Amino acid sequence: MNLVTATSEAIARGAEIIRSGGLVAFPTETVYGLGADAFNALAVARIFEVKDRPQFDPLIVHVAEKKMVDALCTAVSDRAQTLIDRFWPGPLTLVLPKRDVVPDIVTAGLPTVAVRMPAHPVALMLIEQSRTPIAAPSANPFGYLSPTSAEHVAEYLGDKVDLILDGGPCPIGVESTVLDVTQPEATVLRPGGLPVEEIERAIGEVRMVTGDVDEPQSPGQLPHHYAPRTPIHILTANEWPVETGKKIGLLAFRRPDRTGPFTLVEVLSEKGDLREAAARFFSCLHRLDKAGLDLIVAEPVPEVGLGRAIMNRLSKAAGRHARPEGRR
Ligand code: TXA
Ligand code: MG
Repeated sequence: MNLVTATSEAIARGAEIIRSGGLVAFPTETVYGLGADAFNALAVARIFEVKDRPQFDPLIVHVAEKKMVDALCTAVSDRAQTLIDRFWPGPLTLVLPKRDVVPDIVTAGLPTVAVRMPAHPVALMLIEQSRTPIAAPSANPFGYLSPTSAEHVAEYLGDKVDLILDGGPCPIGVESTVLDVTQPEATVLRPGGLPVEEIERAIGEVRMVTGDVDEPQSPGQLPHHYAPRTPIHILTANEWPVETGKKIGLLAFRRPDRTGPFTLVEVLSEKGDLREAAARFFSCLHRLDKAGLDLIVAEPVPEVGLGRAIMNRLSKAAGRHARPEGRR
């Protein structure tokens, strides 16, 4: 059984697992998280595999010290610093501009990263001893409620995780409040454990995002999903591009066995491994998008496991250019 009481020995073992690229479920003051080394893209890809989520969502990176935020973010504004000093450790997640060292799969391709310092001794010890920030979503499979006890996690995920640290029930029991502080107006993206009133007492009025976060955002706001600017076309069976004078890039699943009129080819996984493909997906897409191409053609990947999440994101990116202005 991989469910163990969070003694100091068990936490040390958990830290060893995180350092070697494994997954550890751990308690926080809000809900249980499913953690991996935030700097290890392959380990983070496994989080999505275990959660069986048909899409990629940006993850929260958990730190054990306030100053660890500087290793992850390019700029911490005075307003963000005020919130950190006031509410960390605690149930407040801040969305800040990310550094390049944060893998794209952690942020689902976004230029921002969500960071929080949890107020739970087990979580803090685990992060400290792992000597790396820990990327973790709530430890539930897709479509289930966030777990507030180690038994929930064991029921949900069982042997799919390497270790579940039992630190008892989560004292708060709802997820952290997510606040975007990258824009002039601070915006609550998800209400949670820290009341909005308390945030407003510290920094003044904040905006609330209402309705479907998948809907187009108001002008000046960053999109919630990374969307490439270059048009994307997903290849159908037997379809292969021919020379047209256009600059075409290929997003290949495996190393292609035929050539084509490509300015740039990005291979997701030489050996056709979906976990590696997921880990590299956003960075490959970023490179293609920055190459000044007229078109990106993408090979479909098998729609099993992580392949579903990759295809979901590809279809969204492809559909964006096929639909009327402003819709994604
Ligand atoms: O209390 C919590 O926040 C728990 C514990 C484990 O820390 N974690 C949690 O993670 O609830 P998750 O992945 O279930 O929810 C993270 C939320 C999602 O709504 C996600 O869209 C948002 O944070 N988020 C993460 N990174 C973001 C980013 N760069 N921009 C906008 N939203 C982001
Ligand atoms: Mg969740």
